[in-house]
Amino acid sequence: MRLARVFSSLPGFGPAVVAGFGLCFLLGNLLFSAVFRPTRTAQPIAFNHAKHVANGLGCADCHSGAEQQARAGLPTIETCRSCHESALTESPEEAKLRRMVAAGEELRWTKLVRIPAHVYFSHRRHVQSAKLDCATCHGAMDKATTPPQRVAWVPTMNACLACHQARGVKSDCNDCHR
Ligand code: HEC
Ligand code: HEC
Ligand code: HEC
Ligand code: HEC
Ligand code: HEC
Repeated sequence: MRLARVFSSLPGFGPAVVAGFGLCFLLGNLLFSAVFRPTRTAQPIAFNHAKHVANGLGCADCHSGAEQQARAGLPTIETCRSCHESALTESPEEAKLRRMVAAGEELRWTKLVRIPAHVYFSHRRHVQSAKLDCATCHGAMDKATTPPQRVAWVPTMNACLACHQARGVKSDCNDCHR
């Protein structure tokens, strides 16, 4: 520890101070990484959007409420079963999916984009009436080759209001807060 010796040679920087400094540094680092390290979102299957979209599937084939209902929804294993009961590829992820289908297990996807329960949002309103593309809010999901780790767009109140203002949509507090 050359640095330790340099500090120890200075008046007031005894070994105890150096050790104390080292300990603080170590604990600080551990605490920082425990609090701020982004934890990986583990999805049950390493799902590939790009391959499915390239094979002609539409967004609403899996997110059945995206055009007609308030909630888009995430697919149940029944949706996957219709194509994956027998093997289409040699992918180990697909093999895992087939084992889950055979065992009657459900896919517990972790939802990333979320708004609090006191906020009302309708996909139908935005997709059907306003004719907005999914990508306007969700980014290029059709290009995603692995499940995203972070949301492309965080639905904050300011984000909602910014678009409403830009498009001349008049909204009262009660329209979103019901
Ligand atoms: C074959 C089924 C399938 C198709 C087709 C599909 N998705 Fe998905 N989507 C999923 C699955 C499974 C997940 C969860 C795993 C993941 O994030 O990859 C998901 C996750 C998402 C999410 C993240 C939701 C969240 O809160 O975590 C968005 C947004 C999304 N899809 C949008 C789209 C759009 C837009 C399209 C059309 C371009 C599309 N999806 C087509 C199956 C599908
Ligand atoms: C309409 C049919 C269809 C549905 C529904 C479908 N898939 Fe697929 N899936 C395919 C096809 C076709 C491929 C082969 C893609 C390729 O290799 O180009 C594939 C490939 C895969 C693979 C291997 C891809 C890779 O990474 O190499 C996995 C894993 C997979 N699908 C998971 C799912 C899951 C999970 C669901 C349900 C949420 C699902 N699929 C729904 C048709 C479908
Ligand atoms: C105007 C912005 C906007 C548009 C356009 C939009 N979404 Fe969403 N999406 C959201 C918001 C906000 C949430 C979170 C809603 C919640 O938690 O209730 C969400 C959630 C989702 C989810 C997570 C599951 C769920 O139901 O909460 C999926 C999947 C999804 N959207 C797919 C789509 C698809 C597919 C399209 C296009 C057909 C689309 N979205 C268009 C804003 C949008
Ligand atoms: C990219 C633009 C865009 C974003 C982002 C967006 N909206 Fe909208 N929203 C619209 C448009 C355009 C309309 C008008 C739809 C119509 O013509 O019926 C609308 C209508 C609405 C309505 C019904 C009209 C009203 O105000 O009474 C509600 C409620 C609403 N949005 C809530 C939300 C919430 C909540 C969010 C954020 C989570 C959000 N919107 C984000 C574009 C957007
Ligand atoms: C276009 C939709 C929309 C409108 C209009 C809107 N809000 Fe919000 N509001 C949201 C969303 C989405 C959130 C949650 C995300 C966030 O906290 O940014 C939110 C969060 C809030 C919160 C924070 C609550 C919490 O959980 O911490 C308050 C307070 C609030 N809104 C008050 C208002 C008031 C007051 C008005 C009218 C002047 C209003 N909002 C109008 C969409 C809207």
